[in-house]
Amino acid sequence: MSSTAQAGGVPVLILREGSNRSRGRETQHANITAAKIVAESVRSCLGPKGMDKMLVDSFGDVTITSDGRTILDEMDVQHPAAKMLVEVAKAQDNEAGDGTTSAVIIAGELLNKAEELIDKNIHPTIIIDGYKKAAEKALETLEKIAIPVDLKSPEYLKKAAITAMASKLVAEYKEYFADIAVKAMLEVAEKEGNKYKVDVDDVKVEKKTGESLSDTSLINGIVLDKEVVHSGMPKRIEKAKIALLDASLEIEKPEFDAKINIESPDQIEAFLKQEEDMLRDMAEKIITAGANVVVCQKGIDDMAQHFLSKKGILAVRRAKKSDMEKLAKATGGKIVTKLDDITSADLGYAALVEERKIGDDKMTFIEGCKHPRAVTILIRGGTQRMTAEAERSLHDALCVIRDIIEDPKVVAGGSAPELEMSSTLKKYAETLPGREQLAVKTFAEALEAVAITLTENAGLDPIDVLSELRSRHEKGETWAGIEVLEGKIQDMLKIGVIEPITVKRQIIKSVTEAASMILKIDDVIAAGKMKAPPTPPGSPGGQYPGMGEY
Ligand SMILES: Nc1ncnc2c1ncn2[C@@H]1O[C@H](COP(=O)(O)OP(=O)(O)O)[C@@H](O)[C@H]1O
Ligand SMILES: [Mg+2]
Repeated sequence: MSSTAQAGGVPVLILREGSNRSRGRETQHANITAAKIVAESVRSCLGPKGMDKMLVDSFGDVTITSDGRTILDEMDVQHPAAKMLVEVAKAQDNEAGDGTTSAVIIAGELLNKAEELIDKNIHPTIIIDGYKKAAEKALETLEKIAIPVDLKSPEYLKKAAITAMASKLVAEYKEYFADIAVKAMLEVAEKEGNKYKVDVDDVKVEKKTGESLSDTSLINGIVLDKEVVHSGMPKRIEKAKIALLDASLEIEKPEFDAKINIESPDQIEAFLKQEEDMLRDMAEKIITAGANVVVCQKGIDDMAQHFLSKKGILAVRRAKKSDMEKLAKATGGKIVTKLDDITSADLGYAALVEERKIGDDKMTFIEGCKHPRAVTILIRGGTQRMTAEAERSLHDALCVIRDIIEDPKVVAGGSAPELEMSSTLKKYAETLPGREQLAVKTFAEALEAVAITLTENAGLDPIDVLSELRSRHEKGETWAGIEVLEGKIQDMLKIGVIEPITVKRQIIKSVTEAASMILKIDDVIAAGKMKAPPTPPGSPGGQYPGMGEY
């Protein structure tokens, strides 16, 4: 389409040359198609029978995953509407931590079906209104069918963790991982009034290639992927008093080139002596404060290492900032940024600090911390790709556990809640006037996409399964869903396929928002691509290079 209008025969140019504009039906069609393609690309990954994808980035690095968000992140999507669907996956991941694939599939289906309505001359605004009403009703249904959980018995937590990992590469060890995840999260959960709060980041996850997934372990404390800096230092300290330093134990090099003129050997000696004294001084301050362990965020000079080791102090350098913060919280220590200020009050406490050999590497374990709410899950696995996917799966498990701890309500899975919402919506639609009714019905049908996709991925016939599921829900079997491992319709609650209500609630919210946003667009104005970076005027050449090209 052109960006010009005719005024009395004279074209009026309002956009910069090279800009692109598309409008109306054409835009809607293009946007919907783009979003549909994104949804299509993750379809085959849904559920325990879903497939994995092998993603190769521009550096040739390979990731193997079935995680919706990871796939879309790596795909480097360009189309603006497609990007909005990628945003749905991100929002879902941030808010609930699981359900990303389902969200993208449902959003794609909402748009796909909206297109049929637009073709029937129903205006997008009516569709959007209908979708909003449907979403409200769906959320209401969700709250109605949800089952409250008593956190005193962690049975549902474990089941939800197992469900979240059922569709991942680690499925074989899902029970084992679920136990670890539940223990870790309960350890770091804190009571606030009559509710619990828990942060997934409080569970530190480290991974080390070697052994197998079943050697993954939960450590009551913090594990640093660092070794003790000096071979003369002790490798094990009990009743550790830990100095946490965000200051370097090195002589700062000047930022500019400085020259020192030395005329005699004495001067060299004096110069080196002075350096040594400064380093000794630094070590002395730590020793005086009474520390027997040093965790330093920056470097530690060889000479300083020597002084510390002579006093039997165990030191670790270049610790990550996030680890320093976790250590401060766990050991009750303060991070010291100016060495001059360090006192015994700044030191943290742990019952044991020890370097251990894990695979080919050494790691430092800080256990029995003052504040018990510090745990690390150390993932082991045959290959680096395996541990990376295990970490992603574990993340989903930790997130669903958090969801339930913070909002203790669950639903069953295997498309049961989606079908229950769908069935309620179909009845609700009957009460609405013509066009809105169509939109609400459409929403109801889009929710069935989860059942269809799970079934297809299991190699079953979606038409048979869907019609049976529909009729069972019609008869009031709230938790009828498709169990894909056996390929049978089952009461998903009875067989313990459990999910947090938070995940399902967030899916409804984010798909409705995304679909509405994409449907509302009827005009895309895109600036032309910049061909070369603009050169500032007046630069050599005198011209304005690139004029008219961007
Ligand atoms: N044994 C099972 N039978 C059927 N569906 C299952 C089973 N275990 C998990 N699911 C379903 O798989 C879906 C989640 O699949 P997953 O690949 O993790 O995608 P998402 O990114 O949406 O979480 C959920 O709808 C969940 O209820
Ligand atoms: Mg999942």
